[in-house]
Amino acid sequence: MPETILTARTDRVLTITLNRPEALNALSSTMMREVVEAVTTADADPGIGAVVITGSERAFAAGADIKEMVGLGLADVLEQDLAAAWQALDLIRTPLVAAVAGYALGGGCELAMLCDVLVAAEDARFGQPEITLATIPGIGGSQRLTRAIGKAKAMDLVLTGRMMDAAEAERSGLVSRVVPADQLAEVAAEVAATIASMSRPVTHLAKAAVNRAFETPLSEGVRFERTAFHATFALEDRVEGMRAFTEKRPPAFRHR
Ligand code: HXC
Repeated sequence: MPETILTARTDRVLTITLNRPEALNALSSTMMREVVEAVTTADADPGIGAVVITGSERAFAAGADIKEMVGLGLADVLEQDLAAAWQALDLIRTPLVAAVAGYALGGGCELAMLCDVLVAAEDARFGQPEITLATIPGIGGSQRLTRAIGKAKAMDLVLTGRMMDAAEAERSGLVSRVVPADQLAEVAAEVAATIASMSRPVTHLAKAAVNRAFETPLSEGVRFERTAFHATFALEDRVEGMRAFTEKRPPAFRHR
């Protein structure tokens, strides 16, 4: 049984709730292991079409666990390869929805950015305050934040440690939807259920194609997209999707 997360399954969606409220969901090494394991297991399950990662009303996650890091020296972090295990989320094909209320700071903001669709409550606050601890982001924050919101805003946040509210996060392109706090869980569940109603292998290809935009020059990305687009024509779900449209009925995908 996991100690630091709760999991719930509804039809084709797995919801992972970070559950260390006493520490504002600080991302301990146990929590890292448990989140990565739950997401990796879901990714291998053909019955799951999307995963929601969420926290509490007060905090999505207030960062890596500072109390766990305070006594570490360079030899320790090199030996442990501190935070490296989060990288496993980069290999996840299943779409991940982050439902963020309250603080998403440091590693919490980075975990949200490892997800594919970010939905925020109006009271959500994002930031990379590591500089105030005399360290810097370590789970990709300097890279993913810069790609998401551009150099000007990323430099501002990473160098001053200030927090950005949900409205600024949406304006800046970090989150795709902002909703009243009491609707966050419902909207995130709806987004995930919508994604999970599509053909699972096609959602994997679509996610891979968008992510390719961050890894390649435009011409290579477009070439990757075309190959993936052509590949969908080998799937019976693609036949069903187009046939259902022409027959004016909802599609009955096999792989969902
Ligand atoms: C460990 C944390 C924590 C954290 C909060 N807590 N954040 N414990 N690691 N990152 C604990 C507090 O110690 C306290 O427990 C309890 O949660 C409530 O927090 P308070 O500070 O009392 O709450 P509040 O005054 O409301 O302030 C909320 C806050 C503040 C602004 C979010 O907690 C805060 O600044 N937290 C740290 C944010 C941060 O610097 N994150 C980056 C971490 S570095 P006790 O028992 O003590 O009362 C990082 C690097 C990632 O993420 C990459 C490498 C792995």
